[in-house]
Amino acid sequence: MSVESEKRLAAETAAERIEADSRVGLGTGTTVAFLLEAIARRGVRARFVATSPGTENAARSLGLIVEPFDALDELDLAIDGADQIAPDGWLVKGRGGAHLREKIVAASAQRFVVIADSSKPVPSLHAPVPLELRPFGLRATLRELGSVTLRDGGPSPDGGVLADYHGDVSSPRELAERLASTPGVSAHGLFAPDLVSEIIVATGETVTITTPGGQL
Ligand code: A5P
Repeated sequence: MSVESEKRLAAETAAERIEADSRVGLGTGTTVAFLLEAIARRGVRARFVATSPGTENAARSLGLIVEPFDALDELDLAIDGADQIAPDGWLVKGRGGAHLREKIVAASAQRFVVIADSSKPVPSLHAPVPLELRPFGLRATLRELGSVTLRDGGPSPDGGVLADYHGDVSSPRELAERLASTPGVSAHGLFAPDLVSEIIVATGETVTITTPGGQL
């Protein structure tokens, strides 16, 4: 089975979690693209918030009702992909540069469900960890962080500078605390297990579901 088929299978499994009239956050990326199709196919009527202009446009073109985040505020569910999934439930996200909005949406949802193909689980997290930095004082922020490369391309939808941290990731909680407390860092791509309700990984035709946050 191809990686694409695994993404589709994980996405279809997650789409089943969406209840009628619920408020749902939509992540960003190639796995989420399959999710949008699965939701549209199911025809479930719900209210959606998108974590990127790309997701918003794709969702609307499939007929989904996408609203401003502040119109919904609290979410029942958020579903998103990941770049890396550690055995203890830590995630790295943000290869697509949407991690700031993705984290805000995930944190505001009662349940955050991660969907992934079999390439995403890793024995332990590794660099790079995506960052979003404030343009003001960028050189000072880079000096403070060390081991950071800036991405080519324009600013994020929120005006931030997209970058990647290439240092040691062996203690994700310590690194997450350090990144979060560094002035000039708007967001980092480390997502803690307590944010995650369910991880759905498709391997071939098999779906594995784990619950690092323990709240199925
Ligand atoms: C977007 O910024 C990312 O966090 C994505 O959610 C993550 O990179 C997974 O993307 P794919 O589903 O394309 O692998």
